[in-house]
Amino acid sequence: MLRAELQRRGFAPSFSARGLVTAKAQRPIGVDELPPLVFARRTCLSLTQPQHKDVDVDAVVSSLGALLHSEQAGTPAQAGDVVVTTVERGQQRFVGVHVQRPGLSPDPGGDPRLQIPDNAPSRAWLKFEEAARLFDLHVDPDDVVVEVGCSPGGMTRALLDRGALVTGIDPNAMDAGILENRARFRHLRCSAQAVDVLQLPGPVRLLVVDVNQRPNAAISSIEAIAQRTRRDLRAALLILKLGDWGHVSELPQWLERIGRLLAMPVRATQLPANRQELCVFASRQL
Ligand SMILES: C[S@@+](CC[C@H](N)C(=O)[O-])C[C@H]1O[C@@H](n2cnc3c(N)ncnc32)[C@H](O)[C@@H]1O
Repeated sequence: MLRAELQRRGFAPSFSARGLVTAKAQRPIGVDELPPLVFARRTCLSLTQPQHKDVDVDAVVSSLGALLHSEQAGTPAQAGDVVVTTVERGQQRFVGVHVQRPGLSPDPGGDPRLQIPDNAPSRAWLKFEEAARLFDLHVDPDDVVVEVGCSPGGMTRALLDRGALVTGIDPNAMDAGILENRARFRHLRCSAQAVDVLQLPGPVRLLVVDVNQRPNAAISSIEAIAQRTRRDLRAALLILKLGDWGHVSELPQWLERIGRLLAMPVRATQLPANRQELCVFASRQL
């Protein structure tokens, strides 16, 4: 998937090993020209050739004033930090550099390695938390959130823990622990298409969509809700279920549809917790 994405962006895939793909640009490029890639957790400008085993990483780090990350370890980066990442494969060591910004994971290897808490009713908690960390998404106490496809409530848990006021839409039942939050959680037990959008609260700051429908059907399901809420939205987070990878080439059309519907720039990524899914984030800040 990543190799195909690199090729589409004009890079020629080169050496690869488990968890590592290298590619050649058609001309020398700078760190600020590294493309945001959907299928890469960490994208770096390579400072080494595979055959260079004796690079003095400490000297590189200190001369750049950089943070040092291996694949698993290192201090999370802040926006603007120069980060040097080392990857070991057998006898080979690869050293790359990037500059941290929102939309790039601050964590070593692009994985925050979060643990799902016992009171989260589903793995979707992890998807919300990873996306929030990656895109620097802040939900403030009393922010109004509409969540489509909320059962059993993993993402709702993450939202309620931030003090949000959540209206969840899903024909399926919610976890009992979530339903205890009567003052902050309202369950509309129906499909998104059946919602009377005039009854939605306002102003909605965040729209979250995690329905088990294929991307085009999911986008159609939320059309009326998006049209009703988009004026006040700061951001939207959608988990698109692909089912199989055969349709992934349609991603640009899905992104175009979502961007037009929400009237905001959009970005897609595959989160560490995503399986055959993609996370789409929309925000005016992108
Ligand atoms: C993966 S689960 C959602 C998990 C949930 N986000 C969580 O945090 O636990 C997908 C849900 O989408 C719901 N769903 C599917 N189509 C829907 C629609 N058109 N409107 C609302 N919910 C829908 C299903 O009932 C199912 O509960």
